[in-house]
Amino acid sequence: MREVSLKDDIFWVGAIDWELRDFHGYVTQRGSTYNAYLILDEKKVLVDTVKDYLFDQMLSRIENIIDPADIDYIVSNHVEMDHSGSIPAILKYCPNARIITSKMGEKGLRKHYGEDLDLVQVDSEETLDIGKRTLTFVHTPMVHWPDNMVTYLNEDKILMSNDAFGQHIASPERFDDQLEWGILREEAAKYYANIVLPYSPQVQKALEALSGLDIDIIAPSHGIIWRKNVERIIGEYRKWAGSETPADSVLIVYDTMWGSTEKIAYTLLEAIEEEGKSVTIRNLNESHISDIMTDLLESRFVLIGSPTLNNGMLPMVGKFLTYLKGLRPAGRIGMAFGSYGWGGQAPGEVEDIMKDLGWEIPVDKVRINYIPGEQDLKKVREEGRKLVNSIEEE
Ligand code: FEO
Repeated sequence: MREVSLKDDIFWVGAIDWELRDFHGYVTQRGSTYNAYLILDEKKVLVDTVKDYLFDQMLSRIENIIDPADIDYIVSNHVEMDHSGSIPAILKYCPNARIITSKMGEKGLRKHYGEDLDLVQVDSEETLDIGKRTLTFVHTPMVHWPDNMVTYLNEDKILMSNDAFGQHIASPERFDDQLEWGILREEAAKYYANIVLPYSPQVQKALEALSGLDIDIIAPSHGIIWRKNVERIIGEYRKWAGSETPADSVLIVYDTMWGSTEKIAYTLLEAIEEEGKSVTIRNLNESHISDIMTDLLESRFVLIGSPTLNNGMLPMVGKFLTYLKGLRPAGRIGMAFGSYGWGGQAPGEVEDIMKDLGWEIPVDKVRINYIPGEQDLKKVREEGRKLVNSIEEE
């Protein structure tokens, strides 16, 4: 397996997971990578590892460069097993290596791999001299777990950012100047929407903490390494972590039983498009919830429709809303809709979840009995227009 050089004596030695299609519920159409990095100085340092079943890939890349027995330190920026999973295996090759981690990292690593680990706990902004280079560790709690930290190589201006700035992409390319920005941005947005979104306040703090660093390269723990678009991806993170979302993007998400709720959904789309807004529509049976979250990341208006089944919403809508509640997107303007035969509780249930998320609900939920007729659709159009004009009317 081939290693890749980032700068003199700094190498990517990670693993490519070509076949990965499901990352605990997140559809990873392009697979992923787990990025480990090797720094050669007076001390030899391995930063993060890979999933346990891909250990041989990492080992083979390291062995191309040095004898693994020469590794002095393993930096564990994050306990989650996609990055720590090969620590026990690599320690068999370098039993004297010491593991550097945060306080929460120490707790997590001991729980995962036993009390005997030789760990060095570092505070935020603590430095380690490894010869010609100095490493600075900056704690970034909750980006993505409480233990997270990043490692900054002062002389080389490389930020090893772990989960932050990652994307799930398996590819022969390692750097962002080798792939289309559009693909990179879409996968980085999907990653943010499905992994990082609940921790946006902590991302803002982390961006603040990192703002004083001079960064040439961001080397995340998943996907492609940023060396061309460093400022650009930081700018996207600032936007995604903020509460402001683009004013004119609208997302309609629905499931349908006999086509009536779908008819309402497409009527809303037409009416809102006539108001000059950009609208995306997703049927929950055709689009995966993790892809819908990517749409939602940059949508200010979110309309969710469900017919009523057994006095409640359809199961696919329930699945989506359970996922949505966990990811906690803030600052949206919501509207619920759906057709019903009797009861008609589903739109109310959807609206309650929107309220729990703190979303604004400027117009009433739309409930249409059985098949929407001409008058019903006229009302649907009016409510859709009212919704997207509610900001100007405030
Ligand atoms: Fe890529 Fe939170 O692990």
